[in-house]
Amino acid sequence: TTTKVWHVPTSLFQESLKMAAEPELQEAGLVLAQGGTVAFPTETVYGLGADAGNTEAVERIFAAKGRPADNPLIVHISELAQLEGLVQHVNETERALMDSFWPGPLSLVLPVKRDAVSPRVTAGLDTVAVRMPDHSVALALISAAGRPLAAPSANRSGRPSPTLASHVLADLAGYIDGVLDGGPAGVGVESTVVQVGEDGAVTVLRPGGVTAEQLAAVAASVRLDPALQRAAGEAEGPAPRSPGMKYTHYAPKGAMCVVQGPRADAVSARIAAELEAAARRGEVTGVLSFDEHIGHYRADVAVSLGSLAAPEEAARRLYAGLRHFDDEGATFILAEACPDRGVGAAVMNRLLKAAGHHIINVD
Ligand code: TXA
Ligand code: MG
Repeated sequence: TTTKVWHVPTSLFQESLKMAAEPELQEAGLVLAQGGTVAFPTETVYGLGADAGNTEAVERIFAAKGRPADNPLIVHISELAQLEGLVQHVNETERALMDSFWPGPLSLVLPVKRDAVSPRVTAGLDTVAVRMPDHSVALALISAAGRPLAAPSANRSGRPSPTLASHVLADLAGYIDGVLDGGPAGVGVESTVVQVGEDGAVTVLRPGGVTAEQLAAVAASVRLDPALQRAAGEAEGPAPRSPGMKYTHYAPKGAMCVVQGPRADAVSARIAAELEAAARRGEVTGVLSFDEHIGHYRADVAVSLGSLAAPEEAARRLYAGLRHFDDEGATFILAEACPDRGVGAAVMNRLLKAAGHHIINVD
C-alpha cells in the first residue's frame, strides 16, 4: 500500500465543519467510508482510524499495528447524536462526565449496541469505549467520513504512541492508506479511560489527559483500577479491566529503568552512578530527566521533559523523547520519576510501562 500524506494547515480553518468540506478532508473521509485506514491528529496522540461498523476495515487496523486481537479499540464521535447508535444507555454520572469533558481526552466504557459496532472493535466484550476528541481535524474527519471511527493510537503495537505525523510514518508507512498531518498532538499522552458503576462510582482504567482531580470535581467517587496500583517490582496481580493495560507498551528498544525515591539528591546521585557503570560496560547510555537535574548527568543521549514543575510539558514531550532513544541507538536508559500530581500520574504510568516495571527505589 502507498500511504498518502495530506497536509492540513489547522491554523487556516478553526471550525471543523468548514474544514470537513476541504478537499483533503473529503478525500480522506472517502477512503474511510470505503473501508480504508487513515491516521489523524487528536488532542492526545495520533490515531489510526477505520469505520467502526466495518469488520474488514477494523481488521486492517489490527494488521497494520500488529495489535493483539483481544485488545479493544476506542470509538471516536464528532457529535453526541452518534452515541445513540453505539451504546444502550447512558447514566447520570456518565452524562455529567460527557458534559464536562467532551470534546476532550476522556473515554467512557459503555454498554455496546452490538449491531452497530464490529465485534473486532470491542474484542467481543459487551462494552465499547467512546470519546469525542477535542481537535478540529479529528472532528472534521469523522464528519467527512460520516460515521464513528474506531481509532487506536497510530503506532506499531508496543512502540511509543505518535505525537507527530512523522512518528506515524516511521511506524506504519506502507501499511495504511493515509495520514492527515495536522502538526503536533496537544496533550501528548492518551485519553483517560473510565467506567462508571451503577452506583455512579468512577473507576479509572487508564490514567490520561483528564486527571483524577478533574474527575473528582464532577463525580462523587473516583478510584483507580486496583490492577494499576501494583507495587513496584511485583510482576503478578489482578488482571486490569482495560485489556490494553496488561501489555508492555511504549517501550524503547534499549533496556529502561525508572529511578525513584523521596530525596531528589539521592536519586540523582544513584542515576549518575548507574550511568557511569553502564558506560564502563560499553552500553550506549540514555537518561530521561528534567531541566532542574539533566545537567548533573553524563550520558550519550540525554532527554529533558522540561521543568519538574510542569507535568503538562512532560506529557507533551514524553513519547517523542522515548522515540529519540531508539533513533540514537541507546541500549541502557535510566528515567527519573516525576511528581504524581495532575497529568504527572499518566506520565508516571507510561514511564513504568515503558520500563516494564523495572524500578530502582532509592531511600
Ligand atoms: O487518546 C486516546 O485514547 C488515543 C487517541 C487516538 O484517541 N487512542 C488510544 O487508543 O489510546 P488505544 O487503542 O491505544 O488504547 C485504547 C485503550 C486500551 O487500553 C484498551 O484496552 C482500552 O482503551 N479499551 C478499549 N475498549 C475498552 C473496553 N470496552 N473496556 C475496557 N477497556 C477498553
Ligand atoms: Mg495505544
